[in-house]
Amino acid sequence: MQLDLDSLNALLTAAKKLDAGFANLPTFTPQIPGAARLNEVLAETAARLQDNYPYFHPLYAGQMLKPPHPVARLAYALAMFINPNNHALDGGRATSTLEKEAVAEIAAMFGWQNFLGHLTGGGTMANLEALWVAGQLAPGKKIIASEQAHYTHHRISSVLQLDFESIPVDSHARMDLNALEARLVAQNDIGTVVVTMGTTATGSVDPLPEILKLRDRYNFRIHADAAYGGYFTLAQNLAPPTAAAFAKISEADSFVIDPHKHGLQPYGCGCVLFRDPSVGRLYKHDSPYTYFTAAELHLGEISLECSRPGAAAAALWATQKLLPLQKSGEFAIGLEQGREAALSLHKKLAAGDKFIPTFEPELDIVIFVPRPKSQTTSLTEISAASRRIFDSAATKNLHLALAELPVAFFQNLLASTHRDKPTITTLRSVLMKPEHAQWLDQIHEILSSVW
Ligand SMILES: Cc1ncc(COP(=O)(O)O)c(C=O)c1O
Repeated sequence: MQLDLDSLNALLTAAKKLDAGFANLPTFTPQIPGAARLNEVLAETAARLQDNYPYFHPLYAGQMLKPPHPVARLAYALAMFINPNNHALDGGRATSTLEKEAVAEIAAMFGWQNFLGHLTGGGTMANLEALWVAGQLAPGKKIIASEQAHYTHHRISSVLQLDFESIPVDSHARMDLNALEARLVAQNDIGTVVVTMGTTATGSVDPLPEILKLRDRYNFRIHADAAYGGYFTLAQNLAPPTAAAFAKISEADSFVIDPHKHGLQPYGCGCVLFRDPSVGRLYKHDSPYTYFTAAELHLGEISLECSRPGAAAAALWATQKLLPLQKSGEFAIGLEQGREAALSLHKKLAAGDKFIPTFEPELDIVIFVPRPKSQTTSLTEISAASRRIFDSAATKNLHLALAELPVAFFQNLLASTHRDKPTITTLRSVLMKPEHAQWLDQIHEILSSVW
């Protein structure tokens, strides 16, 4: 974990400053039940928390996980001394303002000045709000997303009782435009197309510019799920079609971006934004309990969730203060490093004789399988070998992930491979920490030693 004592000291200094703001109150003795055993229980908690993969370390190169920035961790901890609730100004005055400022900065990253948006508990909740609004604007019409879209869209649609359909993907895991158009032509029943700006499994980006052209012809709503990929709009080392897709997010009707994925935030921080602020009318409700202290809009009046951590807003605001969301800024460079690391690992794997990667990564996810050691093998055998490599690499501290993916994503499998099932178990590596770029040789060395 490489505990940084300086940052704990910074927290102490900031906590004293926060405390000074309440110095005019009469002193009181807080009642803390169980205080005598606090250290003991905290130590026990630390021991229990040791049962985790080392997500913070560069050799953790598996799932979409990275540590929050220290300023986010500290600002979150600082705000916890107050524990504000961003549902209403009554519960979180300062952090509601911080949320509005931080969300406006996210919107500005996509060129939006006039919009409706707020933080959520995560990407699922943010997507749920977007599809809830979409469903109200096009009652009785369907939601469609690609077969590689996050599973949450299908489930959310069923929660909202909206019909859902999947559209096939091409060999690069992007929504297949011909299949989409064929579906739009077949029947005039599509209300919203969910466009994934970075799929969870492979980091593939749906062709948003072409889907926008279809919108002109067939009139549907576009919701961009940029939960994982959204921040890559700041990266300047994307392939031209990927960069062109990110440049068009501003033309979507709504989008979701997760600060708790690539935005250096602790979990509990998603964000949903709508291009047309007037959709706020769809949220309208009365609360007899909460909305008394100000004529100003409370965040709870434009979100489905009620209580939400103001600490998440403080953490995000502080992070964006330290690392503004700008092209060529330190934050953007971190994203570019991840993309560079993914490209380099892909190249190394393709150049060697031990592994077969899929298509070139669009963002920072690399997918590969072990190259079979004999001419005649089956997808079942390759899948089993992927699982063995996953386990053996972990014994050498290299932690990868597994993904079950269509065999069509592998254009360079041997012709003699027996295709005994439609999918193949692959190794998956999300290289989302800037440090990954310096650790590629070690990662590659360990991989080569286990196959
Ligand atoms: C593209 C995409 N959408 C939605 C989600 C769901 O987000 P959350 O896990 O924050 O609910 C994920 C999670 O990985 C994702 O990658």
